[in-house]
Amino acid sequence: MTADKILAHLEEVFCPEDLGRALRGAEMSKAKILKNAYIAIKDGKILEVGEGDAYKRLTNAATELVDLKGFVATPGLIDAHTHLVYGGSRENEFSMKLNGMEYLEILAAGGGILSTLKATKKASFDELYAKTRGLLEHMVVHGVTAVEAKSGYGTDLETEVKELEVLDKLGKDMPVELIKTFMAAHVIPKGYENNPDTYVDEVIEMMPTIAQKKLAEFCDVFCESGVFTAEQSFRILTEAKKHGFKLRIHSDEIKNIGGVQVAHDLQAVSAEHLMVVDDEEIRLLAEANVIGNLLPGTTFSLMKDTYAPARKMLDAGMAITLCTDSNPGSCPTANLQFIMQLGCLMMRLTPIEVFNAVTINAAYSVDRAKTMGSFHTGKDANITVFDAKTLDYVLYFFATNLAKEVYIKGSLAVKDRQLV
Ligand code: NIG
Ligand code: FE
Repeated sequence: MTADKILAHLEEVFCPEDLGRALRGAEMSKAKILKNAYIAIKDGKILEVGEGDAYKRLTNAATELVDLKGFVATPGLIDAHTHLVYGGSRENEFSMKLNGMEYLEILAAGGGILSTLKATKKASFDELYAKTRGLLEHMVVHGVTAVEAKSGYGTDLETEVKELEVLDKLGKDMPVELIKTFMAAHVIPKGYENNPDTYVDEVIEMMPTIAQKKLAEFCDVFCESGVFTAEQSFRILTEAKKHGFKLRIHSDEIKNIGGVQVAHDLQAVSAEHLMVVDDEEIRLLAEANVIGNLLPGTTFSLMKDTYAPARKMLDAGMAITLCTDSNPGSCPTANLQFIMQLGCLMMRLTPIEVFNAVTINAAYSVDRAKTMGSFHTGKDANITVFDAKTLDYVLYFFATNLAKEVYIKGSLAVKDRQLV
C-alpha cells in the first residue's frame, strides 16, 4: 500500500486508544505517544502511524512527504459543546458581571439569553451565516476539526430552523464537521413566565419538523433554576427520544436541581457543565455511562471557583470531555486550546487526560468515533499539528495559539496558522 501523503519526523504523536466507547476513569490516563513519528494518509484516511523510517516502505515517487521535525501532532481536536449561531453580542453585560451581578440575575431581568433571542430573531440567514462562519474559522485556526453546535436562540420554530439551517449549510460549505443539536429548551421566552409548561408543549411540537428536515441529531435542555425544572427536562427529553434524537442535558451549571437523575434515567449521551454535582450524582453518571462534557471556560468567564470536580469524576470511573461552550454570555471564546489548558491548571487533569478528552472521548460524545478521534487505520485523516516539541508544551504554554497546521480528511485546512 502506498501513501498519498506522509507527515514525517514529528517529535511526538498522541495516539489515543479506541475501546469502542469513551475512555473512563483511569483509562483516560493512558495513550500511546510515538516519538520521531509519522502519519501516513491515503484517500483522506489514516493509513498508518508509526516511528522512525518505517514510513519509507509506504512511499513512491508520487507520495508527498511533509517534514514536521520540531512539531507534535494529535488527532484533530473536537469541540463537543458550543452555541455558535446567534445574533449580536453581550459585552454590554460585561460591566454588570464585573460589578457582581450574577448570570441568572441578568437573565431574570430580561437580559442574558433573552437579549440574544431578540438579536437572533432579527438577524437574516446571511448575517447569521457570516457571523457563525467567522467563529468557526477561529475554531479551525485553533486546531479544531469537528464542532457540535446548538440552536436555542430562537424559541420559535422559524428561528430555530434558521439557526440549524445555517449550521447545515456551513457543514456543507466548510471542511470542518458540524454536529447539530436542537435546543429550543434553552430559556423560558417572554410571555411564558407564568405558564412555562405551555412553552414546553411548544418545544415538543417543534420536534417532528426538526426531525423530518433532519436538522439535528441531538436534543438538549437547560435544566437550571429559573429555566427548565428537572420534571420539564425529563418530559422534553423523553419526547425527543421518541423522535429519534440522542440526548444531552445542561445540568448543574449554577444550581443543582436534579438534572443528573434525568440524564441517568434517560441514558443521555452526555451531561453538560456539572459544576455543582455531588458525589452520589457522579456515581449515577458513571453507572449510566453518561459522558461529562465539562466546560471550564464557563466557570472562568462566570468568575466562579466551582470548576467541575473532574478528578473526582475520574476516580469514580466517569468519562469526560472538555469543550468551549462557545456562546455570547457565559463563555465568549473560540479557543479550545485555552479550555484544555484550564483543564490542567484549574481541574488538575494531566496532559494525557486532556488530549484524550478532546479527541477520542469528544468523538464519542458527538457520536463520530467511527470516523474520528484517533489515528486508527481507516478513520478520517483529521490532524492538528502544534508548534511545540512536546505534547506537554501545548498545555503548559497557555492562551497562545500553537496550532500550526490542521488537516481535515487529509487536506490542509490551516497552514502556518492561516486558513487555507
Ligand atoms: O451553556 N447555559 C445555557 N447556555 C449557555 C449560555 C448561553 C448564553 O448565556 O447565551 C451555557 O452556559
Ligand atoms: Fe452550553
